[in-house]
Amino acid sequence: MKKSEAKKRIILLSNELKLHNYNYYVLNNPVITDFEYDILMHELQELEKLFPEFAVADSPTQQVGSDLFSDYNLTQKKSVAQKANSTLPDNIASAAASSNTPQAAFVQYRHKYPMLSLGNTYDMEELYAFNERILKGVSDEYSGGVTYNCELKFDGTAICLTYKGGKLFRALTRGDGTSGDDVTLNVLNIPSIPKELESYAAFSERNCNIGLFQNENGGKLSAQEWIQWPDEFEIRGEIYMPYAAFERLNSQRESEGETPFANPRNAASGSLKLLDSNLVAERGLECTLYHVIAPDMNFKTHTEALEAARMWGLPVSDLSKECESIDEVIKYIVLWDIERKKLPFATDGIVIKVNRLSLQKSLGFTAKSPRWATAYKFKPEVALTKLVSIDYQVGRTGAITPVANLEPVQLSGTVVKRASLHNSEQMDLLDIHINDYVYVVKGGEIIPKITGVDSSKRQPNATKAAFPTVCPDCGTPLVKDAEEAKSFCPNSDGCPMQIKGKFIHFISRKAMNINAGEATIEQLYNRGLIKNLSDLYLLTKEQLLTLDNWKEKSVANFLSSLESSRGNNFERVLFALGIRYVGETTAKNLAGYFKSMDKLSAATKDELLEVEEIGEKLADSILDYFSKPEHLEMIAQLKDAGLQMEINDTGNQFLSDKLKGKTFVVSGTFSISREDLKITIERHGGKIGSSVSGKTDYLVAGEKSGDSKMQKAAKLGVAVISEEELQVMLNS
Ligand code: IVH
Repeated sequence: MKKSEAKKRIILLSNELKLHNYNYYVLNNPVITDFEYDILMHELQELEKLFPEFAVADSPTQQVGSDLFSDYNLTQKKSVAQKANSTLPDNIASAAASSNTPQAAFVQYRHKYPMLSLGNTYDMEELYAFNERILKGVSDEYSGGVTYNCELKFDGTAICLTYKGGKLFRALTRGDGTSGDDVTLNVLNIPSIPKELESYAAFSERNCNIGLFQNENGGKLSAQEWIQWPDEFEIRGEIYMPYAAFERLNSQRESEGETPFANPRNAASGSLKLLDSNLVAERGLECTLYHVIAPDMNFKTHTEALEAARMWGLPVSDLSKECESIDEVIKYIVLWDIERKKLPFATDGIVIKVNRLSLQKSLGFTAKSPRWATAYKFKPEVALTKLVSIDYQVGRTGAITPVANLEPVQLSGTVVKRASLHNSEQMDLLDIHINDYVYVVKGGEIIPKITGVDSSKRQPNATKAAFPTVCPDCGTPLVKDAEEAKSFCPNSDGCPMQIKGKFIHFISRKAMNINAGEATIEQLYNRGLIKNLSDLYLLTKEQLLTLDNWKEKSVANFLSSLESSRGNNFERVLFALGIRYVGETTAKNLAGYFKSMDKLSAATKDELLEVEEIGEKLADSILDYFSKPEHLEMIAQLKDAGLQMEINDTGNQFLSDKLKGKTFVVSGTFSISREDLKITIERHGGKIGSSVSGKTDYLVAGEKSGDSKMQKAAKLGVAVISEEELQVMLNS
């Protein structure tokens, strides 16, 4: 590969991996499988080895993926309502909670010891190479071989617990490896994590009959043989959600119109970041601890440390095994690649650790992971089953998605009946026929995907699946969006499926949050009671009482949520309209920039392109939406119904002209949200620019300000000031 090509590919892979880290760790919504992620990571590692001149310090190969919201420069930091709880220690009461929205701000603490990741491989041969590296790195006394400890790799989210004086003191997520979110309150709601460690008395009582923890002579451990916990130590492990709890949670979410979690791992990590700790208790989370850090204890081996932790009442796996050679390690892996399918929770590999702690210490760490441990990862499970039929679903934007109906098959802990086929190109590529036997894999997304066809099993009655040429709902000829490889029904305002989809989006929790589900929309629409979004606000009690199973109470609930939705801010209303490509963040940016629906609907393309993160495609979609008189009419009706059509804050109030004539670019995170900072600047007469240019007077740089903006400011001689310096300007 040429140098220039390598450089391009390294940048591309790094950006892609950073985005996948964000989807996985922050949004809990991965879009590719772990296997696909690891392939990209491996390619980047290899390229950086060949072209070290392009390997940068912040490459994803050098950094632990971060679960901290703020690491992604987003502005949605929520203020944290302190929830005093007199029964808990002070530090515990500090991790406050106000709603059940995941990912709002938690108090962060530095880890005493960095929380690293693990090297991994899908290739058994590489385990021999790992063993060789270990043997090479150690003194002669181990030349005969090293003892490894093999453990299941629990597929959940990492947790670091600190116990002080025998009590749970603090629980931190991995965060960026250096600092983590304080989730102590939530962890206290996980039943298997003890709030207090066990004393000898309780221990001997508990174990007197079950023969555990016998001393060398097979007798009960005496008080002298009991290992007393140190005053302070850390123990790390994984919090995960067993399949049964996961299924329960997702069906509950679906019935409440919420997006289900893609997999148990995301569900676990989303649940751990809930802001209402009481809700955590209902989520059925489990925990297994696998790494004791207690330097004062002078444990000799990893096993010894874990056995002590077990004695103290901490949840330690009993499925681990000490292996005397790498061949034994391989046997353990082969066994558990089969046995794991019977476990009630997800595992994604085996972790192999050097057992002797002195040896771990001498092997040490790289920037990202310990040299004394590695993970063998299982390839994603594949199931073979029969394709019964294909549904062509019409989304709210008109996109047609083929979804396969399958003969039910067991896959990674759950029964799979439906799978995605993506688009017509994918179907052609697979040469898919109805009645074919197909391979199904659980990917990052909620719905599993079909990855191949077993052509040797093609049935005589197999018929080639034909992608429709007209909309399966309204019969309008489909159009193809070459860029997105998707077919669309262009009848956006007349296609019943699209209209219903728009209503469902409009009422959803993050949009107008109206108390109704898909079935209600279906009925209201089919009975001709709603055609336009604004019709929702004209519904009467009498009309609602005609719906199946609707009584006074459901009508009252619906009407009161409709009433409260009138108070939703402008950015929510904008998001709720369902303009193609306008997601929550875009709606926020547009609302912040134009301040009112009137100004936004009259905006030119150039003006739209000025807004943060708005490109050609988005600008065209917005222009197209507002070019339709029926949309403008519906918006007018929504306005008449009392919805907020402009930013309703005091932000427009003029405070001074101290910043008059100056243009500011704001980058990074601040003590207040970035939007609020921009409003402050504007209230003092300043102008806001979206990117640093010759016209910029100041770059206000917060924590984690974007590198490219800083570099551009340095190049153009633009003054870089802090939030405090801005405050000084305002106070002067
Ligand atoms: S040891 C420095 N043991 O897998 C020690 N990790 O992909 C690193 N994990 O960050 C951790 N089961 O969150 C270890 N038995 C186990 C594990 C395990 C799951 C997770 C952990 C780690 C990640 C690396």
